Amino acid sequence: MTALPAIPSHIAIVMDGNGRWAKKRNRPRTMGHQAGLKALRTTIEHCARLGVGTLTVFAFSSENWNRPPSEVSRLMELFLSALDKEVKELHANRICLRFIGDKAAFKSAIRTKMTDAEKLTAANDLLIANIAVNYGGRWDITQAARQVARAAIEGRLSPDDIDESGFADFLALSASPDPDLFIRTGGEMRISNFVLWQSAYSEFWFTPVLWPDFDETTLDEAILAFQSRQRRYGRTGDQVTGAADA
Ligand code: FPP
Repeated sequence: MTALPAIPSHIAIVMDGNGRWAKKRNRPRTMGHQAGLKALRTTIEHCARLGVGTLTVFAFSSENWNRPPSEVSRLMELFLSALDKEVKELHANRICLRFIGDKAAFKSAIRTKMTDAEKLTAANDLLIANIAVNYGGRWDITQAARQVARAAIEGRLSPDDIDESGFADFLALSASPDPDLFIRTGGEMRISNFVLWQSAYSEFWFTPVLWPDFDETTLDEAILAFQSRQRRYGRTGDQVTGAADA
C-alpha cells in the first residue's frame, strides 16, 4: 500500500495583495482588507477540513504602523469587529486562537478581546490559528534573547546550556512545530520579517493571486506543490529515498 502524500502540519501565510485587489475595483484599500478577512475565514475552515494542525497568518506587521493613519485605524476597527463577530463561530468549530506579537501596542479594548478569545478557545484541538499582530521575526528573536539573558543573569540558565531547541522555547511560536509550508500571495517573493527563525526548513510557495482571491483551490494547489518537494534537511536525495550509493 502506498502512503498518502503528507498534509503539512503547519502552514504560514503572508496575506498580501488586499490593497491592489481593492484598487483594481476602484474601491478603497480598506475594502480589500474586509475581503481579506473573508479569505482568511475560508482558509481557516479549509485547513481544519484537510487536517492541517496549525495555521499562522501575518495580519499586521510591526512595520504596518507606518501606513497612512486612516488605513491603520480602519485595520484596527476591522480587527476589533472581527474579534466581536468571528470568535464565537471559530470556537464552535473547535479552532484554538492564539495571538503572537508585541500586543502591548494595541488599545486596551483590543488587548482584552484577544485575551478573552485565547481563553475561550484554549482547549480547542481541531486547528491552532496563530494570528500575528504587531509581529516581526526580528522582534521575536530579540525578545527571546532578552528573556534568555535575564534568565542567565538571574542564574536560572547557564550560557553553556543554551542550544537551538532551548532558545526556541522563548520564541512566540514555541508551542507550534516549525512551518512546513510558507505561502505568500500577491506576487512578491520575499519573507518580509515573518517567522524568520521558524522558516529555516520551510518549503516556500509564492503566487500572484491577491489575498482576497485566495480560496480552497489555491490552497489545494499550494499543498500539491508542497507534496512534490523533496525535503532533504542537508542530506542527499539518495539518502532521503533510501536508494543505494552510486
Ligand atoms: C497586506 O496587503 C495585508 C495586510 C497588511 C493586512 C492583512 C489583513 C487581513 C487579511 C484582514 C483581516 C485580518 C484580521 C485578523 C482582522 P496589502 O494591504 O499590503 O496589499 P497591497 O500589497 O496590495 O497594497
